[in-house]
Amino acid sequence: MTQPIIHKPTVEPSYTTLKRSFQSGKKAEQFRDYQAEARASVKELYRLNHANQTVDFVLAKKKQYASKSSLEMGIWEAIELLSSFVDDSDPDTELPQIEHNLQTAEAIRKDGHPRWFILTGFIHDLGKILGFLGEPQWAVVGDTFPVGCAFSDQNVYSELFAANPDSQNPRYQSKNGIYTEGCGLDQVHFSWGHDEYLYQVVRDYLPEESLYMIRYHSCYVMHQQRQYEHLMNAHDKEMFQWVRAFNPYDLYSKSDERPSVAALRPFYEELIAEFFPEKLRW
Ligand SMILES: [Fe+2]
Repeated sequence: MTQPIIHKPTVEPSYTTLKRSFQSGKKAEQFRDYQAEARASVKELYRLNHANQTVDFVLAKKKQYASKSSLEMGIWEAIELLSSFVDDSDPDTELPQIEHNLQTAEAIRKDGHPRWFILTGFIHDLGKILGFLGEPQWAVVGDTFPVGCAFSDQNVYSELFAANPDSQNPRYQSKNGIYTEGCGLDQVHFSWGHDEYLYQVVRDYLPEESLYMIRYHSCYVMHQQRQYEHLMNAHDKEMFQWVRAFNPYDLYSKSDERPSVAALRPFYEELIAEFFPEKLRW
């Protein structure tokens, strides 16, 4: 696999992302600002998320979705399904999802990245169709984090973990918890949401770099705060440079300027057909 060529892994926004955030009328530090006038629904979502994302809950959801539902759908159909979804956990945008997907993908395309990277930007949030499969928002969106080991205080609203039954379970509260040092992230269970769900749906079709981006893009506590690195193996550490390369596009391309879905559709339909079969099981 090739190495990322444009974005060095960094927590600092690059020039292009700063420029983009300027164009969107927001300063870089104004994104993901959970203290400011974030919608009240954001905190409420994290209250429910942190109280209910236990090891038992995560294992039950993984089992439930492992067999995949009877739903068969193409990628574009899933994109259209998502177009009516607004993410309650996101303080930065109230645009419909399809427009966020296009903003992300178009920013990647403008920077000259490979086609699989553009496609990743376009589909990375498709797992949010979980919201239409009956899951509450707290089990679909928001930052993700490992369960089964001590909750890091670097998680967003970490004080809300006090209501999580796992914080009373000594087995889950040591540094490594139920895992071993350096075991690799494939062994680690993360809070259930759209990242893991979409990873399971698309894992046979995309390059590994793309799968890392999809599976861990919401785990800010890991890719930005650099917590839980003791659970990673050497390969995870190397692949996380791709997760970090992806993040600025997800974050700083959010603006209220609306991309034209109709004009962009032919390009993205062709891109989808290059990697995916006509129908996938969800
Ligand atoms: Fe996402």
